[in-house]
Amino acid sequence: MANQPLLNTYGRLPVVFEHGRGMWLYDTEGQRYLDTFTGIAVCGLGHSHPGVAHAISQQAERLTHCSNLFHCKLQQELAHRICDQTGMDGAFFANSGAEVNETAIKLARHYGHQRGVTNPSIIVMENAFHGRTLATLTATGNRRVQAGFEPLVSGFVRAPFDDLAAVEAIAEANHDVVAILVEPVQGEGGVAIPDPDYLPGLRDICDRNNWLLMLDEVQTGNARTGTYLACQQAGVEPDVVTLAKGFGNGYPIGACLARGEAARVFGPGSHGSTFGGNPLGCAAALAVLDAIEQDALTQRARILGQRLLDRFREHLEGADYIHDIRGQGLMLGIELTGPCSELVLLAKVQGILLNITRERVIRLLPPLTMTDDEADYLADQVIRIIKLYAADDRDRPRQ
Ligand SMILES: Cc1ncc(COP(=O)(O)O)c(C=O)c1O
Repeated sequence: MANQPLLNTYGRLPVVFEHGRGMWLYDTEGQRYLDTFTGIAVCGLGHSHPGVAHAISQQAERLTHCSNLFHCKLQQELAHRICDQTGMDGAFFANSGAEVNETAIKLARHYGHQRGVTNPSIIVMENAFHGRTLATLTATGNRRVQAGFEPLVSGFVRAPFDDLAAVEAIAEANHDVVAILVEPVQGEGGVAIPDPDYLPGLRDICDRNNWLLMLDEVQTGNARTGTYLACQQAGVEPDVVTLAKGFGNGYPIGACLARGEAARVFGPGSHGSTFGGNPLGCAAALAVLDAIEQDALTQRARILGQRLLDRFREHLEGADYIHDIRGQGLMLGIELTGPCSELVLLAKVQGILLNITRERVIRLLPPLTMTDDEADYLADQVIRIIKLYAADDRDRPRQ
């Protein structure tokens, strides 16, 4: 299928989807596919969620967009709801994960300048992913994302993930640091789950140095890991937290939330977005919050995540091609012992959509709305495909 006249930025599978429902996507030939990663953690309520579809269509008939030059009732309502949900004090709405992370980076720099730091730096982690704009790709810890886009943005210091001593060492040596930006669980980085002491340790270092703790919950947020924010499981309150992906269940909306002093950093004119927080996006995000609350989806993510983990461990653990099986809520990783990109094509032929990160980690981000039976079905299909792939791989001639 030719890509022209689209710019050549994606390696795409040869399939065109026409509609979706729950954990299923249907292509133009009428074939259905089991979607195990919901647009990379976007459709957390499943495809075409009726509550969100209704909210969007109702709002589209009333008012889609005005301007942030005026007050917007739905934006204020959404800010109240999301601050209540997260314990934060203020919200800025934008349209994507990269944009809300840019907002956080700008906020940290402004915070630094207000404290007299003329070259403020932010600590970011190896294998992190924060987006594709220039500042967020610089913050991203992956050379493949950065290569060819130099010069990168200054003002970032890199530390290994899940290594408190490394951050302490930076604190000793670098007096320009004003913030840490980190994912509570690295998604693109291979579903890397840090030690339970990591986030509380970072909180403590930030408190001792007057740094902002900024959590990128673009992928982990919106109930995905079993609490609304992943950091709530660690009992950690960030100064800044970013949300996108599942926040609008497919409508592009994200939020940068701030607490305490961080919530007082910006003033009129500091930052802005034409589309950010328009009534249509706010209606979608409010419908998502309603569904999470009404259907107790944080709890469901915990229960279903454990159910999937148990089933994967029962059927796959100990196999010579499995390196590790891990997860937090409905963010799961099955790490194989070798690169497994061919698995995506094999699964597609079998009607299953799989996502691989860091070459060897099957990343599962299924909808939080699955029934128990659907979760079992999904687990059984993934197990079947992995076993099929392992058997095929064994038969493949080595060079
Ligand atoms: C943790 C994290 N931050 C930021 C982003 C960037 O989000 P977007 O693609 O909406 O700009 C992603 C996307 O995968 C992500 O996983």
